[in-house]
Amino acid sequence: MEKEIVILGIESSCDDTSAAVVRDGMLLSNVTASQAVHESYGGVVPELASRAHEQNIVPVVHEALRQAGVTKEQLSAVAFTRGPGLMGSLLVGVSFAKGLARSLNIPLIDVNHLQGHVLAHFIREKEVNESTSQQINKSPAFPFLCLLVSGGNSQIVLVEAYNRMKVIGQTIDDAAGEAIDKCSKVMGLGYPGGPIIDRLARQGDPKAYLFSKPHIEGYDYSFSGLKTSFLYFLRDQVRENPDFIEQHKADLAASLERTVVEILMEKLRRAARDLGIREVAVAGGVSANTGLRNSFLDYARRYHWNVYIPKFGFTTDNAAMIAITGYYKFQDGDFCSIDQPAFSRVTI
Ligand code: KG4
Repeated sequence: MEKEIVILGIESSCDDTSAAVVRDGMLLSNVTASQAVHESYGGVVPELASRAHEQNIVPVVHEALRQAGVTKEQLSAVAFTRGPGLMGSLLVGVSFAKGLARSLNIPLIDVNHLQGHVLAHFIREKEVNESTSQQINKSPAFPFLCLLVSGGNSQIVLVEAYNRMKVIGQTIDDAAGEAIDKCSKVMGLGYPGGPIIDRLARQGDPKAYLFSKPHIEGYDYSFSGLKTSFLYFLRDQVRENPDFIEQHKADLAASLERTVVEILMEKLRRAARDLGIREVAVAGGVSANTGLRNSFLDYARRYHWNVYIPKFGFTTDNAAMIAITGYYKFQDGDFCSIDQPAFSRVTI
């Protein structure tokens, strides 16, 4: 019998400390400690994030192994997020992974966080369905396009194989999530703004206000102009009526969300048409957005796409996606040496 491949994945690129165990491509556990400490600051404070990772990493890894029913000695390799992300946050996971792999004398696998988001579509889970144990396994076929939208990235990725992907379009300034978060901040809503805007948008009219859309070449995006026009619009309205935001926040959220979704989908549609690809996926934190998910379903009907939308738990940062990427890299023998540093900025 072939030996099982058991991968421990570790993610600490921003403000979530997460560990997951994957055995032969099947997810056994995925444990995440989120950091509420940043809420009162309206954004992630890097130093506080590093400190919280330091406190969380050992209990989180311990719990992931416990839930998986796996001992450290059964691990085949340790996969970790090497970047991109906040350097202080990354260093906690990177150093922990190196120490653990070295002490167990097993391979170390470095994972690009962005590649992890894309490969989240290959996480297989067992779902207990009444008496039978059923495996959910619907993944895109290669080649596919993946719209990768998070707080730090907005990209269209052409995915040719697990280990072969290229960015064919990306934002030239702000990411979609960043723009939504900043607009939400201007409206005086909480942090992160994405989920709040999503909730409000469900009660508003998406056609109440029109915000400008960028004219950018090729498949690239731009969101800074939208952010500025939103800001100026609010400033002018509030001058006339100080309660404008409070009175119209649902319509504002719905119109903002609609504009962001239309910008994202239009370029994606063009890329899919030009490349003749109908397998289309979405990944990253913003893929939790209801308007974007609905738009994917709408485009699937209109353009006969097969669309792949991740489970909510796999949209934001999680170690399951790092572990599954580690699993495929393990099969390729794609290991990393202990002297490889973390990197804060890198593309796919
Ligand atoms: O992928 P992610 O967890 O972190 C990065 O690696 O950047 O994405 C976080 C981003 C934030 O901008 C957050 O506001 C956004 O995802 N987000 C959402 C929703 N949930 C999270 N944006 C819109 N609608 C949501 N439901």
